[in-house]
Amino acid sequence: MRRGVYPGTFDPVTCGHFDIIDRASLLVDELIIAVAENPGKAPLFSLAERIEMLENHSIPRSHSNPCKIIFKPLDGLLIDFVKRNHAQFIIRGLRAVSDFEYEFQVASMNRRLSSEIETVFLMSSEGHHFVSSRFIKEVARLGGNIDQFVTPFVSSKISKKYK
Ligand code: COA
Repeated sequence: MRRGVYPGTFDPVTCGHFDIIDRASLLVDELIIAVAENPGKAPLFSLAERIEMLENHSIPRSHSNPCKIIFKPLDGLLIDFVKRNHAQFIIRGLRAVSDFEYEFQVASMNRRLSSEIETVFLMSSEGHHFVSSRFIKEVARLGGNIDQFVTPFVSSKISKKYK
């Protein structure tokens, strides 16, 4: 049983995150989306709201992709969460060279903390390289259209926040 953990703050989840989730689901039998409380980032959405937005997306599943997707809150050390959930992989998305240095440091630290857990990086698909939750919130707050970056459900949730 190959089990992966895709951690993030997901404030809110974007099409870029869904792209990684869909592609990661082809690599493992079970994918745990670990949603970090992350008070340091002062999230716009509560943990429950962020999980609701993630759950609203239907991952394309078939006989050739029977991956089970599970959503869980993440607190404490990521590596402890991964071990507690008997996963072997951490999945992270890489959008641009600028992501690399930070991700390299985190992956190296996690490897030092537990050498049996592997971090797997997926390159963002074309069109998602510049998408970030912070940019989307800023565009929405200033009245811009964010429909190409998030699902209609997420878009409506953001609009309500900024009304
Ligand atoms: N598409 C679109 N956006 C993406 C993306 C993708 N594929 N991948 C990342 N992003 C964006 C996110 O939207 C986010 O944007 P924002 O900063 O504007 O909100 C940014 O990239 C990175 O955020 P995220 O992926 O949520 O990661 P993070 O840096 O907030 O870290 C954890 C989240 C959970 C991985 C990290 O905080 C963690 O490991 N916490 C546990 C504590 C721990 O173990 N610490 C020790 C680590 S050494």
